[in-house]
Amino acid sequence: MPTFFEPLLYQPMPQSNETILILDSGTKNTQLIARRCRDCGVYSHIVPRHISAEHVAKLAPKGIVRIGEHDAPALEVIGIPVLHVPGDFHQAALDHFLKNTCGCRGDWSMKTYAQESIEKFRNIIGDSQVICALSGGVDSAVVAAILAKAVGKQTKCILVDTGLMRKNEIANVVAAFDGKFDVEFKMIDASDGFLKRLAGVEEPQEKRKIIGHYFIDVFAEAAKEFGNAKFLAQGTIYPDIIESGTTLDVVGSGGAEKQAASIKLHHNVGGLPEKLGFELVEPLRELFKDEVRQLGMELGLPEDFVWRHPFPGPGLAVRCLGEVNREKLAKLREADAIVVEEIRNANFYRQTAQAFAALLPVKSVGVKDDKRTYDDAIAVRCVSTDDFMTADWTTLPDELLRKISSRILKEVAGVNRVVYDISSKPPATIEWE
Ligand code: XMP
Repeated sequence: MPTFFEPLLYQPMPQSNETILILDSGTKNTQLIARRCRDCGVYSHIVPRHISAEHVAKLAPKGIVRIGEHDAPALEVIGIPVLHVPGDFHQAALDHFLKNTCGCRGDWSMKTYAQESIEKFRNIIGDSQVICALSGGVDSAVVAAILAKAVGKQTKCILVDTGLMRKNEIANVVAAFDGKFDVEFKMIDASDGFLKRLAGVEEPQEKRKIIGHYFIDVFAEAAKEFGNAKFLAQGTIYPDIIESGTTLDVVGSGGAEKQAASIKLHHNVGGLPEKLGFELVEPLRELFKDEVRQLGMELGLPEDFVWRHPFPGPGLAVRCLGEVNREKLAKLREADAIVVEEIRNANFYRQTAQAFAALLPVKSVGVKDDKRTYDDAIAVRCVSTDDFMTADWTTLPDELLRKISSRILKEVAGVNRVVYDISSKPPATIEWE
């Protein structure tokens, strides 16, 4: 019987790739150096720092990078070159190591990776069906695109309309695939069910829980239609694995080093495979976020779609403070669409990591057409960040802020005040909840 954890075990890397192992130092340098290797055309893989020489031999790397002063096993003895990076990282030293010491050709590219992935998943899936939960985000879309190229209509995409999505979200997702990818879509409008369960609930964690649980119920019901499906695809990416400490799993230790990965549990699809008994496929688990975008482009997803900002799994519920209801969501959705549209028009979208509106449960006094109003406030949030762990608010031009504010005040009924959030993370978070 397949289990939830099986696919997290070591999967052989494509033979055409030269691999460099990076011993996980637990610092940011680990990911940085892994990325830089790939930029040099050499595939890199992060492994636990106490990996045994026996496991290294199984992975057959061209070289190993050891970062910092941590003790590490004596890997030199197995005859694989080791680069020790004590603190300062120098690109020239890495280049020299890859090309001259290890003799790497540097021919790893996203184009070959895409072709190999398509082949790999065509073989894994065979003539079975695979279910793909599309969230509207980049990761799940790229997963569906790979599977579409690999097995076409055997890919069954499920789109759940939670009623908590951005304006035109479902239409945008379908349009990104239209005419180019031969997949089957199943749309489910579950907004009534979500909103009924959220009625009267104000506490943010409670809202998240309700949404997460109901999503699983709706998804499970929808998946019944594809009763023959053997696989469920998930958009886990490499940083999710590194940050959850599951680099341990890649070494194929036969169980001793397996961990119960809580990857993306805060995302809606987390926990689904265990409940539903599907085998899990994770086509992006070796890629960094920007590589996922490159892969999306390589596969032919529209550029605008591939560069979308991240959007939280529980959707607008996170950005609609206090109780969530249709009326508040409609206001928020309109204001949010204006923020994104104007940021895009001013060519700021790619320069910011996230830009959105939040609806505050604060009524304040205003004046319109000589009459007193007592209406809601919209907070505009726009942040710059690399890793989303820390973030700074983005300095936007005055004219852009003025345009956003005047459009929201004019076009969104029931809003009489717009504020710009000038809080960094920490101590604030990116989302308002
Ligand atoms: P915070 O608000 O904690 O958010 O600074 C950090 C990043 O995580 C995103 N986020 C989520 N993403 N499901 C997701 O997929 C979620 O439940 C969730 N909550 C927050 C947030 O948008 C930001 O990019």
